[in-house]
Amino acid sequence: MIAMDKQAEAIEGSACAKVILCGEHAVVYGRPAIALPLPMLRARARIEPSHYAFTIFAPDVGAVVSAWRHTRRTRDPLARAALAALDLIGQKPPRATLIVTSDIPVGANLGSGAAVSVAIGRAIAAYFGYPLSAEEASQLAYEVEEIHHGSPSGIDNTVIAHERPVWFVRGRPPELLDSAIGDTLPLVIADTGITTPTRIPVGDVRAAWEREPERMERCFDAIAALVRSSREALERGDLEGLGRAMDANHALLQQLDVSCPELDALCAAARAAGALGAKMSGGGRGGNMIALARDAAHAVALCAALREAGAKRVICRARTVTTGDQPLPDLQI
Ligand code: MEV
Repeated sequence: MIAMDKQAEAIEGSACAKVILCGEHAVVYGRPAIALPLPMLRARARIEPSHYAFTIFAPDVGAVVSAWRHTRRTRDPLARAALAALDLIGQKPPRATLIVTSDIPVGANLGSGAAVSVAIGRAIAAYFGYPLSAEEASQLAYEVEEIHHGSPSGIDNTVIAHERPVWFVRGRPPELLDSAIGDTLPLVIADTGITTPTRIPVGDVRAAWEREPERMERCFDAIAALVRSSREALERGDLEGLGRAMDANHALLQQLDVSCPELDALCAAARAAGALGAKMSGGGRGGNMIALARDAAHAVALCAALREAGAKRVICRARTVTTGDQPLPDLQI
């Protein structure tokens, strides 16, 4: 998304967060996965003309990057996203300031890194009047994702750049699913508060796959079967079937050793409060889990149960509950 502030001649690009509904980790090994955008949590990049050479400020993480000093292959993620965008559109670093802010918690498996890259790409493209496509935004974010964790599947940058639910298989064009899937699912997303860079569990799964390829491939196949049945359940509107697949997917992720006691405890609390299914989401070893409610009213009850069980932050589809004293009836689900 692009916004223009005519008075200040500033241009803002933004990008959403994401959750993986099912299929994480196995997707790195060619199996399908489904991801959903979270439009209410966003990263933003605002670019405005300046008298000085191109500089990026990211006050949330205390970063000031003299982007003009970096080369195209820099490993600084902010400079890399900006230089990749400039390269794509055939422009030199402008005399401008780029300010990056984000509501998306870092290291929480909600796609913060990819969202920042897409927001930067959009702001720079709009500044030069270049119509950046979702595919181009996705590609430049993928380039930055590679710095973060070696061989990402590409699912995060894809769902974030398209801001649509996706059926994703590595190396194939993404299948964009009906937006209503993300809009109507009564999903609750709860944060353990533990931050873990995705490259750690992804690297551990890689090491286990090198040690025990047959066992790991069997696990990935079992996850792929659950992803297919999740899609069928979504298409039938069968929330109970989807919930069962989520529970089974979580058990397989435990076998891959990418869950942790805090994620398991939140999943157990959600199930005890009547969730149809619950699982960790994304890289794991911390970050967020997702729970499927029966309906909107039940999602509100699940939010309360997950906070009671120690979740540091609970997102109820369209609104973020950051404190226990926020009045629950205000939630828009
Ligand atoms: C991260 O959101 C999803 C993982 O499957 C990694 C990847 O697909 O690159 C864990």
